[in-house]
Amino acid sequence: MDKAWWKESVVYQIYPRSFCDSNGDGIGDLNGIISKLEYLKELGVDVIWLSPVYQSPNDDNGYDISDYKAIMTEFGTMEDYDRMLARAHELGIKIMMDLVVNHTSDEHAWFVESRKSKESPYRDYYIWRDEKDGKEPNNWGGCFGGSAWKYDEGTGQFYLHLFSPKQPDLNWENPQVRKEVFNMMTWWCDKGIDGFRMDVISLISKRPGLPDGPAGKSGYGDPGCANGPHVHEYLQEMNQEVLSKYDLITVGECSGVTVEEAKKYASVEGKELNMVFQFEHMDLDGGESFKWNHKKIRLTELKKVMSKWQTELYGKAWNSLYWCNHDQPRMLSRIGNDSGKYREVCAKMLGTCLHMMQGTPYIYQGEELGMTNYPFTSLEEFRDIESINAYHELTEKGVVSKEDMFDYISYKGRDNSRTPMQWDESPQAGFTSGTPWIAVNPNYKEINAAEQMSREDSVFRYYQKLIKLRKEHEIIVYGDYTLLLPDSEEIYAYVRSCKKQKLLVVCCFTKKETVYELPQEFSRQSGKVLVSNYGRRSVEETLILAPYEAAAILY
Ligand code: NOJ
Repeated sequence: MDKAWWKESVVYQIYPRSFCDSNGDGIGDLNGIISKLEYLKELGVDVIWLSPVYQSPNDDNGYDISDYKAIMTEFGTMEDYDRMLARAHELGIKIMMDLVVNHTSDEHAWFVESRKSKESPYRDYYIWRDEKDGKEPNNWGGCFGGSAWKYDEGTGQFYLHLFSPKQPDLNWENPQVRKEVFNMMTWWCDKGIDGFRMDVISLISKRPGLPDGPAGKSGYGDPGCANGPHVHEYLQEMNQEVLSKYDLITVGECSGVTVEEAKKYASVEGKELNMVFQFEHMDLDGGESFKWNHKKIRLTELKKVMSKWQTELYGKAWNSLYWCNHDQPRMLSRIGNDSGKYREVCAKMLGTCLHMMQGTPYIYQGEELGMTNYPFTSLEEFRDIESINAYHELTEKGVVSKEDMFDYISYKGRDNSRTPMQWDESPQAGFTSGTPWIAVNPNYKEINAAEQMSREDSVFRYYQKLIKLRKEHEIIVYGDYTLLLPDSEEIYAYVRSCKKQKLLVVCCFTKKETVYELPQEFSRQSGKVLVSNYGRRSVEETLILAPYEAAAILY
């Protein structure tokens, strides 16, 4: 398998609004990030993925960009950005920008012009249609509720917005749009950035004729948009025009992506992207009303999905590995045990399970501390457009009761991962000297970076170790993967193989003590325990796994 630095890297995602506030306005900023770069260096990550820092009216916290070449006023200035980039590079950390080009803000100059008249040279930068039988041009629903179309009084037409009405979709069929996007990307690359995470890039090519989708369906996987007919052509063009000219790390956020599609987006031939974010494991607890429920993911199902991606992409395309990001609740609260004496072992177990797999791992801020979901008690505590809109829409339609819906958004809402980073035990967890834009999790006195860094047996130190192991053992990066015990609801065990080495990874997903008989091929040899969340130094033929125990053993 061809080696590459981005295959050997570990990425850390920063959600700038919630990371570190340097000026007391309650909103994280670039100078705050600069002040924490040494922390990330100590953790050992290679790359930072910065969620959007561009100028934006913040209808969707920066995923609605009004100027791609300016920094959001609340986050600082372009000079701050340049200093951040330079300091990160000095420390050997790369910076990956969030590229949000499926849509812009409705306040972007292109849209402002486009909206002015049907004759505007920018009209065709967006997707405008006439009404159909007195209604929207088709039945597509927006990801944040309601129709995906908004009527514009000025010119009497509708425009498409797969997300909020303040996020109009760009028309990628227009070569001029592609040229503008590629020029903007080149501008950032020339500044010296190291890569792009591409927001909902699988949605940029809409089906010809924009046909109706199945009634009542909406959301990321809208059949009218995911993996559309020209998406690969556009990405190949992007690759030729921009990506291939630099040494970048690229990951496409690909809602609705299948393994077959991923082999095209992230093929080893390198014609498009390095890797994709797939959603199948995140969708396992989805259901009728999109993601809104309180279902638990079954371990057997999780293993099936993870293993499919591990084995089917092997040698053909490259995987990304993630449990958490700014759109997901904390995995520790979702599938693990987030309170009391098991919180830390469980956080370490989840880290082991993911970081010993094949692919490039992504750590979301606070995951390395074992941060948890937020204990919401009222709707006023929510900030996220997605949760707030869904609450109103589903309760007003009578689809879900208010009580249930509150439970669902509290459990699955994106604000769970957007609460401020917990730095220390000072007021507001050391995130800000002012009032934070979203409440700090009240558990910050117990869970914070200062406390974690003061102890050798903390989650932070364990993540440090996982990252280091990846640098020391080729098998973790390049080895193949075989699942063991597919039917167990308690144990996730798999084997990685590379040349003559084997790595056995065993993770117990329950708080019950669980017996695990080592497969024969391992029971007769003595392996070296590379990492264990219970300080285990050796393994016997029969392992009595403690609650949430995890170990990776090299043979
Ligand atoms: C995916 C992003 O991760 C999410 O936060 C955002 O709301 C949508 N794309 C729209 O840009």
